[in-house]
Amino acid sequence: TAHTAPVVARTPDELRRALADAGRVALVPTMGALHEGHRSLMRIAREAADTVVVSVFVNPLQFGPNEDFDRYPRDLPADTAVCAAEGVDVVFAPETETMYPTGRPVVTIDAGLMGERLEGSSRPGHFTGVLTVVGKLFHLVRPDLAVFGEKDAQQIALIRRMVADLDLPVEIVGAPILRDADGLASSSRNVYLSTGERAAALSLSRSLAAARAAAAGGPAAARGAATAVLEEAAEGAPPVDLDYLALIDPATFAEIADDHRGGAILALAARVGTTRLIDNTSIVF
Ligand code: PAJ
Repeated sequence: TAHTAPVVARTPDELRRALADAGRVALVPTMGALHEGHRSLMRIAREAADTVVVSVFVNPLQFGPNEDFDRYPRDLPADTAVCAAEGVDVVFAPETETMYPTGRPVVTIDAGLMGERLEGSSRPGHFTGVLTVVGKLFHLVRPDLAVFGEKDAQQIALIRRMVADLDLPVEIVGAPILRDADGLASSSRNVYLSTGERAAALSLSRSLAAARAAAAGGPAAARGAATAVLEEAAEGAPPVDLDYLALIDPATFAEIADDHRGGAILALAARVGTTRLIDNTSIVF
């Protein structure tokens, strides 16, 4: 089906004009380099709202000094074409200076102790950067709902906490993890992987599948099954450097006990070459 091209708004004023008489508004926040995972979020938004806004903004606040902010892939024309194909109404793509006219903000939304675990422990300040930009986007767009992927499990958990703790008038909708045909979770960072690195990176999704298969044996068995897959690296293959593997409570991100009953998330992060990858699965014990 043909769609009208989305309005591309570069400033809060242009955004406000594009959103006059918008009805029920859904926001899909992204950093661009849009792939199938992002598209699945846009489809959920399209079903649920009259007007779909996709924000495309590589947020400097959530990158550490030695992370990939400078080399992060940027291609607004390609991203706008993807948004057009998904029937998106408005693409909000501000410049860094538009979002942060005074440079680093003085007042931020702190992610607390929950933001210091796992991803936050490897990436200090990351979640405060995420919550601050998402808070700004919520104020600029004023969406009725916002869609986030479960791929970034700690991110969506913290955004749900922000909405609850600060009484933000927005409904948060979670989207299941979208995977490429080989099982690797779709990610804008996958373009960094060489063919060999990509093959090695498949041990992430395989370890999660092994854990799910071992879940009947309890948390320790699931953790053990995942670890075993990650340790059996193929001879001569690029190493998969595990950052963390954690079985956690989905709401608090605290480690679960070995006698835990009910839902949990097995989350992991690993470096393959210079690329840092994350993945997770939910498991019921
Ligand atoms: P980005 O990495 O571009 O991801 C944008 C949204 O797409 C996030 O909600 C993320 O969880 C979701 N997503 C990415 N890959 C996915 C996949 N394979 N399956 C399902 N969902 C997927 O996350 C961010 O940007 C930023 O932190 C942001 C929230 C935009 C704040 O800057």
